[in-house]
Amino acid sequence: MSDEPKLLESGPPAKWNRRSAFILAAIGSAVGLGNVWRFPFVCYENGGGAFLIPYLVAIITAGIPLMILEFSLGHKMASGAPISFAKARKNSEWVGWLMVMVGFVITAYYAVIMSWCFNYLFHSFSLGWGNDPGAFFTDKLLHLSSGPGELGGLNWPLVAGLALTWIWIYFCIRKGAKSVGKVVLVTVPLPWLLLLILAVRGWTLDGANVGLNFFLNPDWSKLLDPGVWLAAYGQVFFSFSLAFGVMITYASYLPRKSDINNNAVIIGLSDAATSFLAGITVFSTLGFLAVGSHHTVAGVMESGPGLVFAVYPTILNQLPFWPGFFAAIFFIMLLTLGIDSAFSLVEATSEAWVNKLGLKRKPVVITVCVLAFAFGLLFATDGGLYWLDIVDNFINKFGLILGGLFECIVLGWLYGARKLREYANRYSEFKIGRWWDFLIKFFTPAILVVTFGMDLVKTITEPYGGYPDWALFVGGWGVVALVFMLSFVFMRIRANKNQALAGGQGGGTDG
Ligand code: PHE
Repeated sequence: MSDEPKLLESGPPAKWNRRSAFILAAIGSAVGLGNVWRFPFVCYENGGGAFLIPYLVAIITAGIPLMILEFSLGHKMASGAPISFAKARKNSEWVGWLMVMVGFVITAYYAVIMSWCFNYLFHSFSLGWGNDPGAFFTDKLLHLSSGPGELGGLNWPLVAGLALTWIWIYFCIRKGAKSVGKVVLVTVPLPWLLLLILAVRGWTLDGANVGLNFFLNPDWSKLLDPGVWLAAYGQVFFSFSLAFGVMITYASYLPRKSDINNNAVIIGLSDAATSFLAGITVFSTLGFLAVGSHHTVAGVMESGPGLVFAVYPTILNQLPFWPGFFAAIFFIMLLTLGIDSAFSLVEATSEAWVNKLGLKRKPVVITVCVLAFAFGLLFATDGGLYWLDIVDNFINKFGLILGGLFECIVLGWLYGARKLREYANRYSEFKIGRWWDFLIKFFTPAILVVTFGMDLVKTITEPYGGYPDWALFVGGWGVVALVFMLSFVFMRIRANKNQALAGGQGGGTDG
């Protein structure tokens, strides 16, 4: 244990004031737009009801184990992601920076999507998108240009929504765990309540059965397709907010005697339950649209922005009563769903710099918010949607997957899965066994390597989304390369002395 650092004597970081504050904050991060616009579609595409089996297997074999890994690391080292990695293993700080940088890029565009939601909320009561919501979205709201090469000017309503989003984010995380703990008391239960209201609204519409059958009708033959299993793992990684440094940072604010394993199970299952509820809501409502318009459910369904900003408003238009009210509920739900995911990423970035340079929180948080806002302006131009799509695809495929892979290698192999397992078990009600080491050292890395290989081949053989090569080169490979380069540069920056020498709570000495 000689490579383990000494106990930190100086000022402890702010802590969660209740266990529920941590659980809610982690659920808030996990539950986001991904649950509403990604899960239902992925589930439907990969075998419907039968997909729930690989999905559950992915949760048990990778989602929850990796969450336990991140919780143990953050809790033990009591630092944000980069310094936690630095304390675990010399020269591995860059892995933490990689995660944090991937998260930073994601927040920059996640906030732009929230800006769209603000704009839609503004138009909700009057159903301002009119009779052709698809055209409203691309033409009126986004002023979408002809391609990534034509940026056009800034789109001011989007910039206004973006500014509003960033001010909101700033106020949520201004005081770290203290303010986040209060905010999540609202931003976690509220979207759930709204989702329930929309689910009931969906169930009671004509055609709901048609949609639900379509969603859940199991296609067992799909279970033989390895692509379906990989899709389940991909969905779980993104949805559980793993490999972004968020869960490491949040766990670092936990008081010393905290149950790690139970928390991970509660948080994971809550996220999965939300996805399922979102699936029911989305598909029962799609069934209504399909039956009303004499189309098949497949004919009216879309994933991603299309689902939320074109298909859903079309449905809202046709609701028999209070369409404006349900529209507002829908967009408030998306905003409250998204905000705690967005600020969890900002928190992870800010805490990383606070740790590294030993700076005060406030100026760091402001700087991160301003920089991410400035970066986000790119996505608030007329060509912004194209760049958002490219960056999103590449950073999730390559940044996220490689981040997760290096995390397993450094923590599972170089630091030692056993040490973290023993640490996780210390105050946990149920204990994890040696099988967990196997999952972290062999199983999850193998899944990530295969996924990475398949994505790489696909990306090289067919240009993503039919975009021109130069755009994929700049916004795709370029951004991924920049994120990697900066991770190494940041590692080289001289650290704040206290942090560099300090160990986390527990620091190995009292284990
Ligand atoms: N898990 C969030 C979602 O499902 C997205 C997210 C990813 C949030 C990474 C934080 C970190 O939408």
